[in-house]
Amino acid sequence: MKQKKLWAGRFSKQTAASVESFTESISFDWRLYQYDIEGSIAHAMMLARCKLITEPEKNAIVKGLKGILADIDAGKFEFKKTLEDVHMNIESALIARIGDAGRKLHTARSRNDQVSLDLRLWTRDQTQVMAGNLSALQKELVSKAKRHLGVIMPGFTHLQHAQPVLLSHYLLAYVEMVARDVSRLQDCFARLNKSPLGACALAGTTLQTDPLFTAKLLNFDGVCENSMDAVSDRDFCVEYAFCLSMIAMHLSRLCEEWIIWCNDDVKFIEISDAYCTGSSIMPQKKNPDVLELIRGKTGRVYGHLTSLLTLLKGLPLSYNRDMQEDKVAIIDAAETVQASVSILTEVVANTTFLAGRMLAAAEKGFIDATALAEYLVKKGVPFRMAHEIVGNIVRECIKVNCKLVDLKLDGFRAFSSVIEKDVYEVLGVENCIKNYKSYGSTAPALVKKRITYWEKKLNKG
Ligand code: ARG
Repeated sequence: MKQKKLWAGRFSKQTAASVESFTESISFDWRLYQYDIEGSIAHAMMLARCKLITEPEKNAIVKGLKGILADIDAGKFEFKKTLEDVHMNIESALIARIGDAGRKLHTARSRNDQVSLDLRLWTRDQTQVMAGNLSALQKELVSKAKRHLGVIMPGFTHLQHAQPVLLSHYLLAYVEMVARDVSRLQDCFARLNKSPLGACALAGTTLQTDPLFTAKLLNFDGVCENSMDAVSDRDFCVEYAFCLSMIAMHLSRLCEEWIIWCNDDVKFIEISDAYCTGSSIMPQKKNPDVLELIRGKTGRVYGHLTSLLTLLKGLPLSYNRDMQEDKVAIIDAAETVQASVSILTEVVANTTFLAGRMLAAAEKGFIDATALAEYLVKKGVPFRMAHEIVGNIVRECIKVNCKLVDLKLDGFRAFSSVIEKDVYEVLGVENCIKNYKSYGSTAPALVKKRITYWEKKLNKG
């Protein structure tokens, strides 16, 4: 005998098996069970406070729900597809365990405000877990930055050698990026932190309830102001998916860069064997597959953001069943990015920076040309003229196949009479690094200060 549906009253036929399997969401929304139970306990407390259920009924409900929670945690609970979703699986189990008191739990509530509540509670937790994972990644980057203070690498624009920078400065750039991701998660949290409970199906209830009380119990900042908006709003899912997309994009940029950096010709880094994989045909290969997969999974995360926006764009108020699909997207996006952040943190910890190769690369070419132009500016030459003069000097060096620092003073003076012996104090990558001054630049003292700043900040949190 099939279990009767909680909504079976109006129906004269049993649901087709094909419909049951097409409409079920338990296969993915079971992940919300902890939040569903937490929300139901708060709801039961409110019902008792408003005398819609008795104290003994409330106690039976709370005890029953805690028992169900323990069973699910222990893997002893069977979720059934015939019961559609996490809400009805838990409610049915409660009724089976405690009888009539369980039948009162859904008073002044609908699955519409219930699912919105569960998803908000889940997203709220997720933003915090994600922020924690991101700060672990930041710590790893900062610790590498500290360990390698003094290592010089070529800084790139257009993927061409541009100006020398400290490796630590480069690593801290990602720390800043990730800090914005964390602050974006905090914004997302703040905006979603309103309780939808009390909205019921869409219009509220004629019963005397106390939504502020449940909101307080569940640590919300308040109650949604409009019941129709409360049950149809999934902005917070879209926002969270955007936060995740931005994180994934940042990770992907680092991965792309490090894939280039492990290339045999560039070889700025060596990733530990434990974090690379081999080729099934070419015995010599060691591939950065983890980085490639993080880059690849970014597409999947963007896809989820697009799904959510598309899912919502045609929905009239208020709740529509389409919205059940929101969970497929947001849960996978969250799990994907979570996994990516964790493994990237491990990769960073297990990567060796090849300082000698970085310095050698920086020393190739004319990476100190801008420093020479600025030297001329300090001697009173207008920048545009300085730029042209140095351009001419570089052309000469290419012709005679030497570096700027190899030119004799006379050679320089053939291009500009303001050049003196002190020109050699600005040439060469070490001098360039030493001479940076501006706020936020790669000047060693400033980079060191920023490392200290981040160390303090990240160890506080
Ligand atoms: N499983 C549903 C969802 O995820 C729960 C809400 C169902 N509401 C309804 N009126 N059928 O959206």
